Amino acid sequence: MGITCQNGCFKLDAKNTSYLFSVIEDGYLAHVYFGKKIPDQNADYLLRLNEHPLPPPQGDRDRAVFLDHIPLEYPCMGIGDFREPCLQVLDKDGMSACDIRYVSHTIEKGKHKLPGLPATFGSENDCTTLTIHCADTHLNLEVQLLYTVFEDLDVITRSVRVVNHAKDAVTLRRVLSACVDFDGSGYDMITLHGAWARERHIIRTPVTPGTHAASSMRGESSHQDNPFLALLSRNATEDTGEVYGFNFVYSGNFLAQAEGCPYDKTRVVMGIHPQDFGWLLEEGESFVAPEVVMVYSDEGIGKMTRTFHDLYRNHLIRGEYKDKKRPILINNWEATYFDFDTDKLISIAREAAKSGIEMLVMDDGWFGNRNSDNCALGDWVVNEDKIKGGLKHLVDEVNKLGLKFGIWFEPEMISPDSDLYRAHPDWCIHIPGRQRTLCREQLVLDLSRKEVRDYVYDSVSKILSSANIEYVKWDMNRQLTDVGSASLPASRQRELWHRYVLGVYDLMERLVTDFPHLLLENCSGGGARFDPGMLYYSPQIWCSDDTDAMERLRIQHGTSMVYPVSAIGAHVSDVPNHTVGRVTPFATRGNVALSGTFGYELDITHIPQDDRDLIPQQVATYHKYNDLIRTGDLYRIGDLCRDSSYDCWSFVAKDKSEVLMTYVQVLGRANYQSRCVRLKGLQRDAVYVLEETGQEFSGAVLMQGGFPVTGVYGDFSSKLFHFVRKK
Ligand code: GLA
Repeated sequence: MGITCQNGCFKLDAKNTSYLFSVIEDGYLAHVYFGKKIPDQNADYLLRLNEHPLPPPQGDRDRAVFLDHIPLEYPCMGIGDFREPCLQVLDKDGMSACDIRYVSHTIEKGKHKLPGLPATFGSENDCTTLTIHCADTHLNLEVQLLYTVFEDLDVITRSVRVVNHAKDAVTLRRVLSACVDFDGSGYDMITLHGAWARERHIIRTPVTPGTHAASSMRGESSHQDNPFLALLSRNATEDTGEVYGFNFVYSGNFLAQAEGCPYDKTRVVMGIHPQDFGWLLEEGESFVAPEVVMVYSDEGIGKMTRTFHDLYRNHLIRGEYKDKKRPILINNWEATYFDFDTDKLISIAREAAKSGIEMLVMDDGWFGNRNSDNCALGDWVVNEDKIKGGLKHLVDEVNKLGLKFGIWFEPEMISPDSDLYRAHPDWCIHIPGRQRTLCREQLVLDLSRKEVRDYVYDSVSKILSSANIEYVKWDMNRQLTDVGSASLPASRQRELWHRYVLGVYDLMERLVTDFPHLLLENCSGGGARFDPGMLYYSPQIWCSDDTDAMERLRIQHGTSMVYPVSAIGAHVSDVPNHTVGRVTPFATRGNVALSGTFGYELDITHIPQDDRDLIPQQVATYHKYNDLIRTGDLYRIGDLCRDSSYDCWSFVAKDKSEVLMTYVQVLGRANYQSRCVRLKGLQRDAVYVLEETGQEFSGAVLMQGGFPVTGVYGDFSSKLFHFVRKK
């Protein structure tokens, strides 16, 4: 059993992890331990309660000192813990304090769904769930703390359900999903930062006194910050030391924060960003906060990564493509932008078919009068001036060439210059009477409204049913501003941020349910919504609009910190690269895209013949290695933060029978010997054969001595090395 309770102490045991908390005096829930697995239940002495004793039950002296010192499992606002709280209300009297105490608990095998929300899933054999029922008796508010342990992984998930049992309504002002109070200070923190075209660069900083956060108030998880935070011991490396990863299964506003607290503690909190959040709970109503995934590693950052990958590949990603190789696609965006028609697309498909590419994706510009990005979003009617003969004709022709067909949508948006806007000017998110803020010349549909969602769903499903369409790229190209809804009362306007995200999830759930064979790829101006919430609906996400192979090293490296390589949308594009103007070899562009879903984003009818000639070879390489890349263990060997002149990573088969290593030389070096890189994760006592030369190496020596990389010459050059364990 992964969860036990003895004398008020709860012990959650995952593979190599224990997590303990206790009900202490007065029913407070105090956090005892999170780390490497321990055999004992009795560790409450770690709380050192005697150093700040609680006054007698009805006493009112110095309760604040006690509450501000002890590690709390789910801290509330306004009763004496002055660190970051998780729960804050506004009651009928205008008061914001709350105070929850333990009432009862249940332990069950398996895991419940979170209504309307994406979440990890597991069977009764995979996981155990603990529900702690707490109450604020003054407010008559019930707070359920939900914990699930995945017993074969080092994973614990958390979420929270709040139920109002009072006659009077209460407004929730913040409901964060998880808090962990770590003992001591002096930790480091890793977060993923960036902007459009340079998403998820790794940032490592010390957690000094005060708060340090990654967050989004953009209505989406964002290009700028990712809903991920790792707290790690200061000496932790890629392969050693203790690392605690936190990832929020949500796609809207979030807060991921580490706080160096005054009394030698470090608090990590994660949840929906409390800024501008409000949720009215009438009598009997409940609110569920999205899930936080917590991963513990005692073997550095790399092991945390591999645990996230295993969890997401097996217990988050769903559907037909969960465990399947994805079709190699060619997308026409960077090939044509808005300037295409049926003939152009068919010419691309014809050439692509010759090289073994498996799917054509028609990007933005096929509907309404959309010939640039300033109009027609919402008018999901095929533009037959461009798509001559209609969509079915185009799809049939592409199918006849042996390719599948995919299509782009931006379902959440509305252009002011659209028939939809002219008919329904109040369907966008806006504040009546205030000038509407445009971004990329567009507004966001108010998906909190059922009639708006129904319109969007009908438009998309009508197109999908009109031809043999097997893939959708679901794009979202702006952030939320002027957050107001024409259909919500004033008392519920602050709910719109979250209601919008729930609306997106509702649409996606309908889509994957009604079209179970569809491959859905999420996208948001590149990678602004690369989060686990989206992975629940789409097994792959477009990683960045920056397709330059060198830029992608950092972007994919950072993305791989949490998200499986099988989900990272990566394409070979043309040069000079459209974003940075860099010229890199076609082979290197292929080798970098291989560590992702793999595909092309170029005009195959116009690229140099030498490049075109390489495509069949790259296609064959993809087919040869994709099973290993998709399902294997990722080991990062190079560290771009320490040495940006090269990158190197590898995929090791689960049974350690083979390893594929990718080496990319960013800049050539003069007058050095070859670089010796140490492989990781191999079987020490096995012999590995380098496929290219037949040379034999001991697993132990490859890992401890290394492998001298040769045959890589010049800037931006790269090479794959495949080692197979000798039978
Ligand atoms: C976004 C996407 C691109 C492309 C364009 C189309 O920027 O990230 O890949 O689909 O929209 O407008």
